[in-house]
Amino acid sequence: MSSLAEQAVDAIHAVAGRHPGHRAAHAKGVLVSGRFTAAPEAAALTRAGHMQGEPVDVTARFSNGSGNPNQPDFANDGRGFAVKFYLPDGSRTDIVSLSLPCFFVRTPEDFVKFTRVQKPSPRSGKPRPLRVLGFLLRHREALPAVRGFQAQKPPASYATVVYNSIHSFKWLDADGGERFVRYRWVPEAGEESITKEEAKSRGADYLQDEIRTRLEQGPVRFRLQVRLAADGDAVDDPTKAWPESRETVEVGVLELTGLDTTREQGGDVLVFDPMRVTDGIEPSADPILHFRRAAYDVSVQRRAGVGLADTGKA
Ligand code: HEM
Repeated sequence: MSSLAEQAVDAIHAVAGRHPGHRAAHAKGVLVSGRFTAAPEAAALTRAGHMQGEPVDVTARFSNGSGNPNQPDFANDGRGFAVKFYLPDGSRTDIVSLSLPCFFVRTPEDFVKFTRVQKPSPRSGKPRPLRVLGFLLRHREALPAVRGFQAQKPPASYATVVYNSIHSFKWLDADGGERFVRYRWVPEAGEESITKEEAKSRGADYLQDEIRTRLEQGPVRFRLQVRLAADGDAVDDPTKAWPESRETVEVGVLELTGLDTTREQGGDVLVFDPMRVTDGIEPSADPILHFRRAAYDVSVQRRAGVGLADTGKA
């Protein structure tokens, strides 16, 4: 009997195909590098090393959500933005975020079920919308993410998308204070989308090409915001977005300066893991957040032949 994490990755493969050497999800993407500088407000909220104000190097990856690396950029998809911070003490910490405000499911078991109903019919190769509808009728909590997904327009650029951590994390300050936060990356270039027709005319790889060209012309910046939980906000449930009125603190600026040429070379395995936190930051009890490490471990085993634990600091 395979583990739930293996079942989850198998279910993704059944929808997107198995593509050796590629991530099981978010297979298509582009690696960039730059640095993050925390604002003074950050250190008041967390004692984490990258939030004290000294600039820290980062490797980041923009991606499309599909596990099929051949899916064109103009297909409707969640866009991913994963950032790895290289901390002054030599350790690393990651923020892994999506273009959606909330997630589809609240438990790993439901992730497997929801992914399985998206598997195309083995006979016709076509999607089976009635199965998806059946799941949604039993899981109303998935509707906000589904609506958000369907309402998305193709982005003009990976640099014109707002990305959310969706999960909550506890920030601990130096004086023993603690609060739950959710991260949001806000593009300095502003949010911009294009029509599906325009996206198609730009080609299957337009997002990968555009970000390369944009970086040649100058740095791409994102502001990092943390949104603070109010009493009663769901901190363990990724299907529930918090109200937009939540207090928001700007905690730093990310400046991406070029394509990354150092990682994923010569056998280096790069994994972005939202559970890779550091002193001053703790994961919430959200079951999806905890399950992701196990699922990513399976994906890494399959694409690189090593487990997450064997990738060192990754
Ligand atoms: C049960 C829920 C989920 C499962 C099973 C899942 C599965 C996966 C897998 C297998 C990978 C490839 C990992 C690798 O090989 O390195 C991946 C990558 C990724 N996931 Fe998830 N995921 C889940 C939820 C989420 C959520 C909630 C978010 C956003 C908040 C997210 C954002 C991403 C991103 C951005 C990547 C690409 C990271 C990169 O660029 O390397 N995932 N996911």
